[in-house]
Amino acid sequence: MGLSTAEIMDLSCELVGWDEVPGDSTTYVEGDDVESALVGIDLESPEIQLADREGYDLVLAHHPTGDEARLEFTDVLEKQVEFMTNHGVPEEVARDAASGIVDRMDHGAHSMNYRHDPSVAELLDQPYMNIHLAPDEIGRRKMVEVADEFAADDEVGDFVDALGDLPEFDDAMTDIQLRVGDEANELGEVAVHHAAGTNGGEDIARAYFDHGVDTVLYIHVGAGDTEALTEAYGDEKNLVVTGHIASDAIGLNVLIDELEARGVDCTAISGCGIGRE
Ligand SMILES: [Fe+2]
Ligand SMILES: [Fe+2]
Repeated sequence: MGLSTAEIMDLSCELVGWDEVPGDSTTYVEGDDVESALVGIDLESPEIQLADREGYDLVLAHHPTGDEARLEFTDVLEKQVEFMTNHGVPEEVARDAASGIVDRMDHGAHSMNYRHDPSVAELLDQPYMNIHLAPDEIGRRKMVEVADEFAADDEVGDFVDALGDLPEFDDAMTDIQLRVGDEANELGEVAVHHAAGTNGGEDIARAYFDHGVDTVLYIHVGAGDTEALTEAYGDEKNLVVTGHIASDAIGLNVLIDELEARGVDCTAISGCGIGRE
């Protein structure tokens, strides 16, 4: 007997010690005897059809594609505030800095076709779920572990090099980019701002930089944010950007290992499996 989709969702939460399923993760079509899964970062309508054709018991995506996982996505943006206040940003400033992202995500979800991909899975009766925040939290903790090995007067370039030793970054076709700052800068205080729904953009990096953080880590960032931050801070502050897909793969690879240990045969596509033996 394979795992049910409910057991797989619970497992993802157990791996990070959470009791509640985050708002950005949901099961679109339940399955109760999952022995094989197609696992990927972005699995949408074409991949659902692929899985159906190839006989997979489950389509397990990372990014949410619809239903509650998109409509209630703003729930997980509370993490943006939590991470900032943990680094000494006053709560009011943190809320203000996060308000733009919350607004954009809320408007985006309201306008999107939240039924598109889930309805294809329903039509095919193909079990389909997405697990987002929990694997990102696994990845965040690994990056924090790397950051914790460094002292404030160590160099930014050495931190970037050490991150690059994680198998996913070592294997990725993308390099870790220092989008703002200089490799020879002192690291100072480091904020690993990941596993909060999405990157914090310019506003959240500013909140950190203005409240004692010297180096911010995002997994992705827009060109406009980099430009605005460079204009505001020159190379006095540092923004390390690790690369979206390699970063997402870190936690998903752990989840895949745990599923395989429980008898679910996983096929990793769409970025999953980068850096995995
Ligand atoms: Fe992610
Ligand atoms: Fe992602």
